[in-house]
Amino acid sequence: MEAVLDIADFSVAYPTDRGRVTAVRDVTLQVREGEVLGLVGESGSGKSTLANAIMTLLPDSAEVSGRMAFAGQDLYSLDRAARRRLRGNGVASVFQDPFTALNPVVKIGRQLIEFQRQKAGRSAAEAKRLAIDMLGRMGISDPAGRMKQYSFELSGGIRQRVMIAAALLTEPRLLIADEPTTALDATTELQVIELLRASRHLVRGSIVFVTHDLGLVAELCDRVAVMYAGEVVEVGATPSVIANPRHPYTRALLACDPRRMIEPSRRFLTIPGKAPDPVSVLQGCAFASRCAEVLAGCAVERPPRWPAAGEEYARCVRLTS
Ligand SMILES: Nc1ncnc2c1ncn2[C@@H]1O[C@H](COP(=O)(O)OP(=O)(O)O)[C@@H](O)[C@H]1O
Ligand code: SF4
Ligand SMILES: [Mg+2]
Repeated sequence: MEAVLDIADFSVAYPTDRGRVTAVRDVTLQVREGEVLGLVGESGSGKSTLANAIMTLLPDSAEVSGRMAFAGQDLYSLDRAARRRLRGNGVASVFQDPFTALNPVVKIGRQLIEFQRQKAGRSAAEAKRLAIDMLGRMGISDPAGRMKQYSFELSGGIRQRVMIAAALLTEPRLLIADEPTTALDATTELQVIELLRASRHLVRGSIVFVTHDLGLVAELCDRVAVMYAGEVVEVGATPSVIANPRHPYTRALLACDPRRMIEPSRRFLTIPGKAPDPVSVLQGCAFASRCAEVLAGCAVERPPRWPAAGEEYARCVRLTS
């Protein structure tokens, strides 16, 4: 199947006072046309860095290597302006905190209209009609009235719905949602998740859904990429990864709390131990210090992707030995 996004041996590092932080390491991953891909992992595993890299929103200090091709063009081989243009024409995002993305002194209707005029070249009248229609589809009552409000007058849940509407109105080829429900209370979170599930059919493009919650991945995603310490350690079709996880880290995540598979919750994943310091130079498998299935050579030998040529793989020496 065609990939809208093709990431190969992609790494991101940040020089810091403590040393060089490697946030994303050698990631190889495809996002296929029309799919919802889940990016799951503990806090600090590099999900947001990878998401921001896709949106070309990394801080200037970030050192990038490898390939990140959107619609066939390698984003990081282009100059900055060309990169922004390409991203502006097809990638949209929904963040954790919608408050920062909306302008507090401009009515939300005007923002929704301007956004479409810039991104989709629509007339003001057409943009207004589509905005009201989309707010209605997002389950917002009195959408025409809401258009006249300011973002601070809206609850967190309504604000996030407005952001999802804004993103969908540009008809993106790729929508990146980075933990879009984490800042919401539990009831609102469930409502927004329901909405995201229903919205799948409003997005003609693909979605990358970033979360620390495997339960949400099971509910929303066709495929899942599991991140650990900056690496994608396993990627595959969601049902097969859940039924037959190949990487010990994925197995540990699933064993943490079986209820998460049926009931999305706000708790973080807990596996004994800590991820390696991102400043340290890693030898061997990044998961070795916490792995219940560790072998003698794991701390020395870096596990390869297996199968090496496939789009769907895991990184564990147990698969190759
Ligand atoms: N701008 C930055 N400068 C230095 N280190 C960063 C920066 N952004 C993220 N990091 C580090 O990169 C690692 C991955 O972070 P992040 O991508 O935010 O993970 P996640 O979204 O999975 O929680 C962490 O160790 C984090 O501290
Ligand atoms: S390579 Fe070794 S330490 Fe790493 S996940 Fe596999 S068995 Fe565990
Ligand atoms: Mg994050």
